[in-house]
Amino acid sequence: MMLNMDYAQRRERLARQLPGKSVAILMNPKPAHKTGDQDYAYRPDSNMLYFCGMDEPGAVAVIMSADQAKRMVMFVLPRDPERERWVGPRYGCEGAVAQFKADEAFDIGLLKDKLSEILFALDGVYFDFSQASELSPMLFEVVEKLRHRGRHAAEGPRAFCDLRDIVGEMRRIKDADEIEAMKRAAAVSVAGFKDVCKMLRPGIGEWEVEATLQHGFRARGAIGESFGSICAGGAHATTLHYEANRDRLNDGDLILIDAGAEVDYYAGDISRTYPVNGRFTDAQRDIYALVLKAQKEAIKMCVVGNHMKSPHERVREVFADGLHALGIFAEEPKEILEKNLDFEFFFHGTSHYLGMDTHDVGIAYGRGDDAPAPLLPGVVITVEPGLYFTENDARVPEKYRGIGIRIEDDVLITEDGPVVLTADLPKEIEDIEK
Ligand code: GLY
Ligand code: MN
Ligand code: MN
Repeated sequence: MMLNMDYAQRRERLARQLPGKSVAILMNPKPAHKTGDQDYAYRPDSNMLYFCGMDEPGAVAVIMSADQAKRMVMFVLPRDPERERWVGPRYGCEGAVAQFKADEAFDIGLLKDKLSEILFALDGVYFDFSQASELSPMLFEVVEKLRHRGRHAAEGPRAFCDLRDIVGEMRRIKDADEIEAMKRAAAVSVAGFKDVCKMLRPGIGEWEVEATLQHGFRARGAIGESFGSICAGGAHATTLHYEANRDRLNDGDLILIDAGAEVDYYAGDISRTYPVNGRFTDAQRDIYALVLKAQKEAIKMCVVGNHMKSPHERVREVFADGLHALGIFAEEPKEILEKNLDFEFFFHGTSHYLGMDTHDVGIAYGRGDDAPAPLLPGVVITVEPGLYFTENDARVPEKYRGIGIRIEDDVLITEDGPVVLTADLPKEIEDIEK
């Protein structure tokens, strides 16, 4: 499925950032085997989707730096009427040229030979190093042969470079088409959560909550979930990525739901924590109110001029005050922060980039967690503070043990301040109690 996005313009922006005579190689993965002759549901590579909108398994796109005559060469599965009768049509080389605007397209079986011709005249090759096991053996083989072939000056590229830095910075800042897609993903995600609010009651299975989300997403046109839904009743919520979803929900417990719809290959990512029977206990309300306060304060920090760590720093301040006030820490807030005591109960970051990948690409921090990246217009991040008190943690007042609460929204940074894409989903106590 090709979306109505300006792929050629994105490729030009990439081409202009590729130095000298170089190319960027994009590749869709091969289908992943599941059982017998079944494969897992196919998900194309996000970079391939971003630059080409090309969704066919195994396809390769070679994008040339700006000073070369050709702009893009593609390698695709050849047409095969017999296979296509079983699994559906292929684009073929003609389709790659006609639909995806490649200058030339070849049978994927010719990739190695053709790469040898292309790389012969190049200085550098850019590809996503997280796909290195697929690509680099072939690239090294091609380059080695080129080295042996040249009599005087060695032929072929001098450098392999990670494409992620260039592409990460491009994809970190969403263009107008992407922001529209992210709004659609957010809206469908919100609708799925609202479906859950209608069916939530003691005695139902966590799996029923999961199924309600899946139905809510798919029925509204989503590809599916952006990641495995977390439907964590009671103390399961203190396991950050509990995805088993196999217990029943007890009267008096909370359920932490962390889920999102993937719409047009863009992710929603929402967390809400609800009282299963519709009413918080006093202890649950204490913690919920603290997490909610921290989340709302952190969202205010999502402004141009701040950086990726600004929301997190604000969450920590609010938590330090609140954890002291609730008697969970005897230490003063200043000491809690200096000694990182809050990390015991809030042991993940507040924000990640959101986009085609749920944890989207783009450098958020320099090496060693320093140099947080600036928040710029078009950046979309999550804001997702949480507090988690395990069942047997004797350091915590008994009434708080077994409580895990996370609240997560998706936030677009704009010149005019934060835009909460998932704002339609209630999170105030009076709005979620029944
Ligand atoms: N569900 C993954 C996350 O919230 O980061
Ligand atoms: Mn999440
Ligand atoms: Mn998240």
